[in-house]
Amino acid sequence: MTDAAADTVMELNDVQVAYHGDIRILNGLSLGMRRNRITGIIGPNGAGKSTALKTLYGFLKPISGDVMLRGERINGLPPYEMVNRGVAYVPQNRSLFNELSVEDNLRLGCWPFRRDKARIADALERVYAQFPILKDKRTDMAGSMSGGQQRFLELGRSLTLEPDIILLDEPTAMIAPKLSREIYDFITTLPEAGITVVLVDQNVRQCAAVSDHIYVLDLGKTRAEGDRAAFSDDERLRDMIAEWLDYQID
Ligand SMILES: Nc1ncnc2c1ncn2[C@@H]1O[C@H](COP(=O)(O)OP(=O)(O)OP(=O)(O)O)[C@@H](O)[C@H]1O
Ligand SMILES: [Mg+2]
Repeated sequence: MTDAAADTVMELNDVQVAYHGDIRILNGLSLGMRRNRITGIIGPNGAGKSTALKTLYGFLKPISGDVMLRGERINGLPPYEMVNRGVAYVPQNRSLFNELSVEDNLRLGCWPFRRDKARIADALERVYAQFPILKDKRTDMAGSMSGGQQRFLELGRSLTLEPDIILLDEPTAMIAPKLSREIYDFITTLPEAGITVVLVDQNVRQCAAVSDHIYVLDLGKTRAEGDRAAFSDDERLRDMIAEWLDYQID
């Protein structure tokens, strides 16, 4: 077993996934998430990045291949079991209750331990310490905040359960640059706190800058992978990414 394999906490192994019928969206995809590292997943629109995260979290069940969590095969385990196993997921689309207050959204994140008042108070304090703006706005309706502040709330809510793995789907999409920077700064602190990060991102440069290991997906398969150094040094990878960025911009 290589060092990388020994230290892999979550994996997709040769996974095939379809939404309907026979059209494979993931087509033999393999990914390995290193413990207490940031694994970046990049690729063009429709490559299957969000589908990969949904498969890791149990929303989709593979037709073939394995989803592994700390050496356990977890194909088809429902998402609430992932919560119990310390995995959090922040989806690409907004997932807040807009008409509820910021604090009530956080309290809902604490649902699995809803009878433990002291733990809830502690979880809220930790989120407020991390994102003070949420404390200022704790009685405001979630939907009244800016896109970036709503992202903070989603990230904060995912932390209430003290996960040790967090799956983030495009956390800075359509967020103003200043708040995006704050979000990346926050993400980079997670490994030190003992949290393994899986970061799907359309912002290739930022993702490559903060990730320890990067996978490039296209058509439901890995087209390339490497550590951060490989991504800045490897001309072939740089050309490939430049080519696809061009066609994204058109
Ligand atoms: N619920 C669904 N039903 C059917 N097909 C879907 C569904 N969701 C996604 N797809 C298709 O699966 C493919 C992969 O989608 P996915 O959302 O995983 O891509 P992505 O890499 O996350 O793209 P983006 O960068 O646009 O978020 C696309 O062709 C998409 O049209
Ligand atoms: Mg997506």
